[in-house]
Amino acid sequence: MTPTKRVRAGLALTGAGAIAACLAMVMASAASAGTTLGGAAAEKGRYFGAAIAAGKLGDNTYVTILNREFNSVTPENEMKWASTEPTQGTFTFGNADRIVNHAAGRGMMVRGHTLLWHAQQPGWAEGMSGTALRNAAMNHVTRVATYYRGKIHTWDVVNEAFADGGGGGRRDSNLQRTGNDWIEVAFRTARAADPGARLCYNDYNTDGVNAKSTGIYNMVRDFKSRGVPIDCVGFQSHLTNSVPGDYQANLQRFADLGVDVQITELDIAGANQAAVYGTVTRACLAVARCTGITVWGIRDSDSWRTGQNPLLFDGSGNKKAAYTATLDALNGGGTTVTTPPTSGPPTTPPTTPPTTPPTTPPTTPPTGGPGGCTATVTLNQWNGGFVATVRVTAGSSAINGWRVTTTLPSGATVSNAWSANRSASSGTVQWTNVDYNGRVAAGQSTEFGFQSSGTGAGLAPTCTAS
Ligand code: G3I
Repeated sequence: MTPTKRVRAGLALTGAGAIAACLAMVMASAASAGTTLGGAAAEKGRYFGAAIAAGKLGDNTYVTILNREFNSVTPENEMKWASTEPTQGTFTFGNADRIVNHAAGRGMMVRGHTLLWHAQQPGWAEGMSGTALRNAAMNHVTRVATYYRGKIHTWDVVNEAFADGGGGGRRDSNLQRTGNDWIEVAFRTARAADPGARLCYNDYNTDGVNAKSTGIYNMVRDFKSRGVPIDCVGFQSHLTNSVPGDYQANLQRFADLGVDVQITELDIAGANQAAVYGTVTRACLAVARCTGITVWGIRDSDSWRTGQNPLLFDGSGNKKAAYTATLDALNGGGTTVTTPPTSGPPTTPPTTPPTTPPTTPPTTPPTGGPGGCTATVTLNQWNGGFVATVRVTAGSSAINGWRVTTTLPSGATVSNAWSANRSASSGTVQWTNVDYNGRVAAGQSTEFGFQSSGTGAGLAPTCTAS
């Protein structure tokens, strides 16, 4: 599938888009200015990520940009079925682990990509069908999601299962031929294996209201109505020169179903590249449940779209005009995420409903400087574990760093955290900013999160600014 075939024609900047751009410029004067993509996104309660390759983690230029600019990573190929289960029942996680470990050491989130896809299957699975394939596929979901339990912010549980063209139906594949319920079984299986991960359906050519996106919309609506555990929809957004005028409206209609939306594989070719990056970024910021953006590679030379230069850094690692347009858009206003952006709550808890109030108020006045900071926590609790999303808000002055203290009850142990460093995994835990989210403008917020066993009752976060 070439990118050209994937791209849907549309308007680069409609009248409404132009108005939105003007509004964004007005709001920019009141907003703080992040100096990196991840930092600017974090100030809006969102992440900004990149697809990365384990084989490039020894490339100094590559890693320098990665660590400076991004607070989320997606393994470009290393978690796919062919990579993780090359022989049936034998799992190889070495390359994926290199990426997960790199991210964990720096407070970056990980998007897992992807548990099931018709492409990049191992040869043994490509040759299977029927019940044998269904069982092998769900075993794969269980084994991989269990192995990474607590370490993955969002899983692309199923990738690209809908057909292109006008029908809005499913793509034919060996997986589809095991029965139309394979997608919902995959989501239920993934939830059971890792109840803390956000579970996404991910696809391309869904960049506006069209037959394919509507087919997916109908599936998500059906899943939500029947309690199939789906938390988000990924919009790959492989674009050339333009983006449909209803891009934002399309994101919004999915969000209105009660799922998060994420831009998952953004790359944009063509002369209009910088403007379209700005438009896409503003669209995400304008949708409260658009929780983050991932670009599909770092430098143009890293892109799967060879010769099209669709990314934010040139082959030498220099920032392009597209980078500046994206950063300016991130700094230019939009909504702050109002739903937990980085937590992995079950939409239907596996067993019991939350036992604690969802939100505890700040318990301390601002400290550490003229304005100080406050911290609040939102819990998604299930029987035996929880995800906490902690919001750090600067007081009347900007802060350059923060420290949040929480007290975990006996029996609670943190298994995974993102966008913060932690001093311990149980008891009294000090959480400090990572390099991209320490700077918070007056009155603005950033968030970090963690997953833990036990109960989150009584965390009582306190914040000290620096
Ligand atoms: O690693 C081998 C190398 O050893 C071998 O010499 C070489 C020979 O062709 O192949 C290398 O593997 C390639 C792999 O990328 C790593 O570079 C595969 O051939 C190649 O098919 C694979 O392409 C990936 C493609 O998915 C597979 O369909 C791209 O890197 C990756 O960017 C792309 O990502 C997909 C998303 O997963 C889903 N959405 C679309 C997106 C773009 O196609």
